[in-house]
Amino acid sequence: MSQTDKHFLSVKDLTVEYSADGQHVHAVSGVSFELDRGRTIGLVGETGAGKTTIAKTILRILPDFSARVMQGEVFLDGRDLLKLPEEEMRKVRGQRISMIFQDPMTALNPTMKVGRQIQEVIEIHNNISKHEAHKRAEEMLEMVGIPKDRYYEYPHQFSGGMKQRVVIAMALACDPDLLIADEPTTALDVTIQAQVLEMINDLKVKKNTSMIMITHDLGIVAEVCDEVAVIYAGQVIERGSREEIFDYPTHPYTIGLFGAVPKLTGDVHRLSPVAGLPPDPCNPPKGCRFSPRCPHATDVCRESEPEFIEVRPDHFCRCLLTKEREVQGCPN
Ligand SMILES: Nc1ncnc2c1ncn2[C@@H]1O[C@H](COP(=O)(O)OP(=O)(O)O)[C@@H](O)[C@H]1O
Ligand SMILES: [Mg+2]
Repeated sequence: MSQTDKHFLSVKDLTVEYSADGQHVHAVSGVSFELDRGRTIGLVGETGAGKTTIAKTILRILPDFSARVMQGEVFLDGRDLLKLPEEEMRKVRGQRISMIFQDPMTALNPTMKVGRQIQEVIEIHNNISKHEAHKRAEEMLEMVGIPKDRYYEYPHQFSGGMKQRVVIAMALACDPDLLIADEPTTALDVTIQAQVLEMINDLKVKKNTSMIMITHDLGIVAEVCDEVAVIYAGQVIERGSREEIFDYPTHPYTIGLFGAVPKLTGDVHRLSPVAGLPPDPCNPPKGCRFSPRCPHATDVCRESEPEFIEVRPDHFCRCLLTKEREVQGCPN
């Protein structure tokens, strides 16, 4: 058994490109992270950083015609999902991994009763009677805080928050071992967002579900994530426990990002948001991909690509200057 097999999920050196109009979009470049059972990792970064592409690669739902996995492995319980026959992968998608997409309406059928939609998911993935599936669908509704007698209503009779809860219920209907939530609360107002997050946290405790939480909202990271991987221009540029990343943000990009929200503990340091724009994904800069925006960048940064080094126990950072700048906590 190799080292990676110890983890529930192990993403290794994933590189994914899209071809569009004769150009190659370097969406994901050498991304690695691990996740254990019952744990939640947050993938954090700006729009276009590659977060959704990572999720779709794990589930193998990338568009066939334009996307290509150039290299990498995705071990789930020691099996490389990228090597499974499609038939096997379909089972993994139904029974082991569920994904919640950003917009609940894309996942719901407007012409079908809400409860029936959950029941259908249960029927597809479990060999049980209609009666049992119906009962289970009602249980799922109650579990996400919707009275079971609303089983017979249609999506348009539900508020945005309730629709997203239904989508979450559908994602959970098959008891996934891994839940991938791609910005699940972006479309919701703040009160509903808080309810949905609380529900997700409850489920994690009740079912020991592992989760990948994709978000650019650091409040969500503070609330639900055990670990954090900061994604910049297709790479993981910093990774560590939630406490490490909040208390000792080390990469200049992370410092910029995390400076914008109150820290978990201690003094609140408000730093300026990250100035500038991400690089052109068709033409990533030489050297450190963040160097064009980095206030500390030197000629070396613009020439050589930084390695991912351990800056504190189980806390990794991709910055050539890390050794020179003392890792003492925010601000640097
Ligand atoms: N189907 C596609 N065809 C071409 N480029 C794409 C496609 N999907 C995403 N991209 C590009 O890949 C990069 C990563 O996108 P994405 O994974 O959606 O990032 P995120 O979820 O972090 O916003 C972006 O530059 C985006 O424009
Ligand atoms: Mg996305």
